[in-house]
Order: sequence, then C-alpha cells, then structure tokens
Amino acid sequence: MSRIVFLNGSFLPIEEAKVDFMDRGFMFGDGIYEGVGVLGGQLVDNEGHLERLERSLKEVRIANPYTRAEWTRLQEELARRNGMEEGFIYFQVTRGVAERDFAFPENVPPTVAMFTQAKAIAAAPAAETGIAVITVPDMRWKRRDIKSINLLAQVLAKQAAKEAGAQEAWMVEDGYVTEGGSSSAFIVTKAGRIVVRPLSNSILPGITRRSMLALSEQHGIGLEERLFTVEEAYEAAEAFLTSASNFVLPVVSIDGRPVADGKPGPITRKLRETYLQMAAAPRLAAE
Ligand code: PDD
Repeated sequence: MSRIVFLNGSFLPIEEAKVDFMDRGFMFGDGIYEGVGVLGGQLVDNEGHLERLERSLKEVRIANPYTRAEWTRLQEELARRNGMEEGFIYFQVTRGVAERDFAFPENVPPTVAMFTQAKAIAAAPAAETGIAVITVPDMRWKRRDIKSINLLAQVLAKQAAKEAGAQEAWMVEDGYVTEGGSSSAFIVTKAGRIVVRPLSNSILPGITRRSMLALSEQHGIGLEERLFTVEEAYEAAEAFLTSASNFVLPVVSIDGRPVADGKPGPITRKLRETYLQMAAAPRLAAE
C-alpha cells in the first residue's frame, strides 16, 4: 500500500500528490510548517503545535485555512489512513501559487500539504545510548521564533553534524548556544538544575520544551531560563534535547568531548520517562 498524503483538501497516494511549479513555497520558501509526534495512535501536545501554527501564519500574514478542530480531524484521518501508531506528522502551509513576484499575490488560496513518517520514538535506540552533537555558527535570520520552511542553515548544520559522526548540531551565536538544528537544547548543572535559553526571536518556542518545563516544575527539578555558553555545556553534568519527533533525547558528547561520564544522566532519564507518561496519558484516560 502506498503512503497516503494530504494535499489541498484531498487524501491521495504520494505518487499522485503534485505541487504546482510556481508554488511560492518552492520559489521563495514562502511558507511555514509544523510537526507533531504520534504515540499510541494519539497526537502528542497537538494543541501547542496548532497554537504555534496559528502564530507562525499570523506573523507571515498567511490566512489559516482550517480551525484547530479541522486540523486535528485531518491529522487523525491521515494517521489512520496510513495505519501510523507511532511517528511524526509534518504539515505545511505556503502562500500558494502565483507568477513569480516578491510581493504577496491577491486572492490566492494557500497550499496545504501534510504527510506522516512512521518512527519508533518511545523505544528509540538513541534514547538508551544518547547522541553526539557538534557546535556550529548560527547562520539563520532574525525571526527564528517563526517556524519557517526556510531551513538552509539547518540543512547545512545537520549535514556538518552527520559528516562529523554526530546526530545533531547545536547552533552558537556570540558564544552562547541558541538551539539545535531541529530541537531545543538543554544542559543540567552539577547542582542538578536544568538550564535552557529563554524564549525570544533567537529561537523557536519548542512545544516539547514548554511541556518539559511544566513537568520539571511538577517534579521539583530546579530550572534556570538563561543563556549558556559552549564551555558551560562542555562542563555540564548532563545535556539533552527536546523535539516533537524525539521527545527527550540524551546528549552524551559535544564536539567530541564526553558530557560527564559519556552516558545518559539520571535527570534526563527521569524527564524522558515523565514525558512519555504524559504523552501516553490521554490514551490511558480514554481506555
Ligand atoms: N523541529 N528548534 C528548532 C529549530 C526546531 O526545528 C524544532 C523542531 C525545535 C523543537 O520544537 P518542538 O518541540 O515544538 O518540536 C526547536 C521539528 C521536529 C522538525 O523540523 O523536524
């Protein structure tokens, strides 16, 4: 059975889903996207992702084609049609199709595309072993709070990581870590406190980050929202990342230097476990 995707109101086999040559997403990167995790057939933190989608669309002045309830119905339908119990749903809205001209076209409907990627998240081997990250200069624009489809800086950063045998790149500006190529970056101090960069236009407001902060508070784990340097990360007791496609993943080396003993730390393990419980909770409640 071929993968079913959603394009402009229809569910179709991926081979039949064609986007117009003059789509502004293709020509200008004029669009925004979101990604939500699926666990046990349930969307994880979807309200947060739909809220951020609304915000990104508003910031770039593209009308939201659907209400939250409609988005949710389409996402659930797509997961169901693909028989996807665990993985990731990607969804993207571009400013639509028009002759190439930088200024906005008038009366053009947005292009809406959505697809699934089946993936083991809860039992991911990387959660046991941890991953390696490298640091790279943050070369992005000044509105990183918008989840833009312009990802060239992240493509280059993550390719550099891959070539260095690492799985993520932590981007650095003025000596401070901003975030990962496609994840939020955290360290844990020797005193057992979580450190994460505060929200601003310099980073994407991670939805997993937000849930994690709420969970750490509930579990009495100390938290500092402040900048941290690469040197502080090298010296940290633990490091980890969060994202919709990985939830919480331990970082066990940075630029080839082991983080502490080079093994996933206890606070990271606890947070991952807690997050997985939270993600599974709606399903348990429904049973
Ligand atoms: N990336 N920072 C950046 C630059 C990201 O691209 C992402 C997500 C995050 C984490 O945000 P969240 O917890 O809401 O997923 C932080 C997605 C997963 C991606 O591009 O595949």
